[in-house]
Amino acid sequence: MNSVNEKKVAALAAVKYVKSGMSVGLGTGSTAFFMIEAIGEMVKNGAVIKAVATSNETEKLATKIGIDVITLAEAKRLDVTIDGADEVDDDFQLIKGGGGALLREKIVAHNSDMNIIIADSSKSVSKLGKFKLPIETIPFATKLIKIELEEMGLSPVQRLKGDADYKTDENNDIVDVDIWNTTVKLTDLEQKLKTIPGIVETGLFLTTTNLVIIGKGEQAIEKR
Ligand code: 5RP
Repeated sequence: MNSVNEKKVAALAAVKYVKSGMSVGLGTGSTAFFMIEAIGEMVKNGAVIKAVATSNETEKLATKIGIDVITLAEAKRLDVTIDGADEVDDDFQLIKGGGGALLREKIVAHNSDMNIIIADSSKSVSKLGKFKLPIETIPFATKLIKIELEEMGLSPVQRLKGDADYKTDENNDIVDVDIWNTTVKLTDLEQKLKTIPGIVETGLFLTTTNLVIIGKGEQAIEKR
């Protein structure tokens, strides 16, 4: 079973939690893609869904397939958000932001009653950190933040797109750091990173997830 199919299996299992009349947060990435497609099908079949997109890419896709995309301010509160992850551990802690959408993803997750994470089986890990942790930074500060992150032993690398700096939807930079060998507790690390002015957000999602659905072969394994 390949990971693409596992992503679809997880996404379709998650969409069962979406009911007509709900406000739904739409995640970003190749796993979220299958969920957005499936919600598009629900809408075609008459379901009334209002959605908030976590990225420009997701907004474009959702709009194209007929989903009513509204602003977070209009939604005020979301019934459920379904999103992917780069890594998820047994305590529902996540690394997100491989696709660069971590800032809006975290805002949407924070404003959602239920957060479902969908992933193929390769994303399920016993310890976070093989995947580099994305950190979103204000361009004015990025170079100096990199020096601080280096001093913290996190081997920061600024993300590029071709020869240019990668830019998020908010026009910020992404610095990817290596947390594999850090001895600091993840909650403390998150707190410490957020005290550095110019760090807007990190891809550590430690407390927002209610349900994880892993596609494994043809099966969707639900963990809560
Ligand atoms: C984007 C994300 C994605 O959810 C994460 O990168 C997983 O992506 P994919 O489903 O394509 O593997 O956090 O910012």
